[in-house]
Amino acid sequence: MCGIVGILSKHEASPQILDALKRLEYRGYDSAGIATVNHGQLDRRRAVGKLINLSDTLVHDPLPGRVGIGHTRWATHGGPSVANAHPHQAGRVAVVHNGIIENFRALRESLTAEGAQFTSETDTETIVQLTSRFLAQGMTPVQAARATLKQLEGAFALAFLFDGEEDLIICARRGSPLCIGHGEGEMYLGSDAIALAGMTDRITYLEEGDWAILTRETVQVFDSEDQQTARPMMRIALDNAQIDKSGHKHFMAKEMAQQPAILKAAMAQYTGADASAVALPEGLDFTRVDRLLMVACGTAFYACQVAKYWFERYAGLPVELDIASEFRYRDPVLGPQNMAIFVSQSGETADTLAALRHVRGEVGQVVSVVNVPTSSIARESTFALPIHAGPEIGVASTKAFTAQLQVLALLALRAGRDRGRLTEAEYASRLDELRSVPGFVALALDREEEIRRLTEILSQARDVLFLGRGVMYPLAHEGALKLKEISYIHAEAYAAGELKHGPIALIDQDLPVIVMAPYDALFEKTISNMQEVMARQGRVLLISDAKGLAEAGDVPHALQMPTVPELIAPIVYAVPAQMIAYHTALHRGTDVDQPRNLAKSVTVE
Ligand code: M6R
Repeated sequence: MCGIVGILSKHEASPQILDALKRLEYRGYDSAGIATVNHGQLDRRRAVGKLINLSDTLVHDPLPGRVGIGHTRWATHGGPSVANAHPHQAGRVAVVHNGIIENFRALRESLTAEGAQFTSETDTETIVQLTSRFLAQGMTPVQAARATLKQLEGAFALAFLFDGEEDLIICARRGSPLCIGHGEGEMYLGSDAIALAGMTDRITYLEEGDWAILTRETVQVFDSEDQQTARPMMRIALDNAQIDKSGHKHFMAKEMAQQPAILKAAMAQYTGADASAVALPEGLDFTRVDRLLMVACGTAFYACQVAKYWFERYAGLPVELDIASEFRYRDPVLGPQNMAIFVSQSGETADTLAALRHVRGEVGQVVSVVNVPTSSIARESTFALPIHAGPEIGVASTKAFTAQLQVLALLALRAGRDRGRLTEAEYASRLDELRSVPGFVALALDREEEIRRLTEILSQARDVLFLGRGVMYPLAHEGALKLKEISYIHAEAYAAGELKHGPIALIDQDLPVIVMAPYDALFEKTISNMQEVMARQGRVLLISDAKGLAEAGDVPHALQMPTVPELIAPIVYAVPAQMIAYHTALHRGTDVDQPRNLAKSVTVE
């Protein structure tokens, strides 16, 4: 949600900032802007829409200066417009901001009463107006920034730039991530280390409540009590191949194609080359757990929904599932024997992070399954289990989903072994099944051309229904979510058996119904529900394996998946769910990687 960049450069800053913003555009693309200080003068350029519009603006109206801040926006307060675009400026200060200032109304009222003239609808403008007022009272930039921070409530990351100051950026982190990059006679700032790739691999992550004073040669970090503090510098190596499209048309296409390799590598990280046992961090203990709480948002939530079946089946562990934005508001009953698992690709999702903070100290073990190991969720959990999927840039989550499923399956099997629910032989043979995932995912990816053809018709639909039972029910949800977010076709998922309790009224010859049903113990029942749809002229696409398709008889459309063991079916069936959405979106000409209204990392509640 919104990307922030700051650069104290030896050269012109704008081109470098623009480049860094490109790598953060996945965080929001409602508008973008850059401010610099040149010959002591603060100046800025802003443009509505994607970064390309700001690029064009800069071609016609360059922005010189060797120090600057930049921003790519996901609108919260005030629609996408130049006036609402960051950097915001008042008097001698400009600010870029990610997050929400919760007390902005009260601040705005009192500043307006004192004569401040607001020019935008944003919460951010209260920050610059406040700082500007403090500067006008004679404070130095550092004093003014510090006094401003004391008045702000909410979750945010900020960077300040001051008129007359060509060797100074002040930044602050409260609730939203921010990292500092160390260069040779240069200093950088970004919402994500990805922004700084190519400039430096030496990164310092700010901790919650920190603020920092940056010059080209120095970094001074202060904690929430304003005490100067040291934060470690680490090396984060990101090569361009990890953050470019590597010849693919879209990041989503690249990320889908990466799945076999990623799943293979991640499996090796947890089980060693022979996959004989699952290695977990010292102290993570399933034997003293009486209940699992699993909390996440979006696609990560559907991964948890699948994992619930696994933990219950293979480990005999009761699982309670929650959407993170709801969890805290239902007074969940927590206890020391509970283990809470938080799943998040970014590790920065505000709702998931807030849920994690809610249970800390109340449950026995706090575990996270994350893609970004340096993220807030990873750092604030007792045990962080990385999924090793590498940077995921397409807004629609694909490789992170299958990698989350794989890690959760490994956890469920290890829990089953440790709790005596699985014998050593069963444990070993289930691990063998998991080892076969990359090969089956590659086979599923091979169905691309067939899927492309099937989606020609689907792309004409106004609504689509996905059906599944058991572990295919969350997969149906994942398929519907993917389709909605990148093709803008309304899609719903239902448990196949629930259809007759209402939604069957929707069925007619115009409604495509995608049935996900491998030939498993629930197959016959799902197929009966599919027949009920066909009897009402519903346009069915059945996704199943060879046996399933043979048993099902005549169906309007069919897609054959490889025959896979039951445990791994959800991982393999994720692939057609992703590719259906991708090719439908291509037929419709929508923006696959940056769908409207969305952002990759949702750091507001
Ligand atoms: O970074 P997270 O996994 O916590 O993100 C959760 C959701 O915002 C995310 O999965 C979202 O639903 C995706 N755009 C789905 O493709």
